[in-house]
Amino acid sequence: MTFLVINGPNLNMLGIREPDIYGRRTYADLEAHIRGAAQRLGVAVELFQSNHEGAIVDRIQEAYGKADGIIINPAAYTHTSIAILDALKAVGLPAVEVHLSDISQREPFRRVSYVAPACIRTIAGMGFDGYTEAIRTLVEHLSRREN
Ligand code: DQA
Repeated sequence: MTFLVINGPNLNMLGIREPDIYGRRTYADLEAHIRGAAQRLGVAVELFQSNHEGAIVDRIQEAYGKADGIIINPAAYTHTSIAILDALKAVGLPAVEVHLSDISQREPFRRVSYVAPACIRTIAGMGFDGYTEAIRTLVEHLSRREN
């Protein structure tokens, strides 16, 4: 199984940006964490980070026919992007939405997710472990589908 892991705008600033909310670990640490989890769970991952909505749409489209599932932290685009919602729906791959922080406990504008309707699950507030949980969710989902 191969999963595409997409991280949206400003997640490349992890470690520097609002450490009280997002912690002191960097984006490179996050990549290492995801690669380690993937290895333990026996799946391949492709990692992509972009600050650009269109680039994220392009990357989701490229996954069509190649990846088995998508893990996406759309960051601020979560709360604005119909284009990312439509791209996820267009490719029809099982997708899991991840947020490091608990978006339900923050400003009201973060409580709305445009991408959630295209995702089988939303995981928020688990920090880096949310990505591990997302991999597990996709593995379970896909093995159920095969049986
Ligand atoms: C985030 C939450 C978003 O509201 C915010 O814009 C981010 C990160 C998270 O991982 O907690 O950039 O997606």
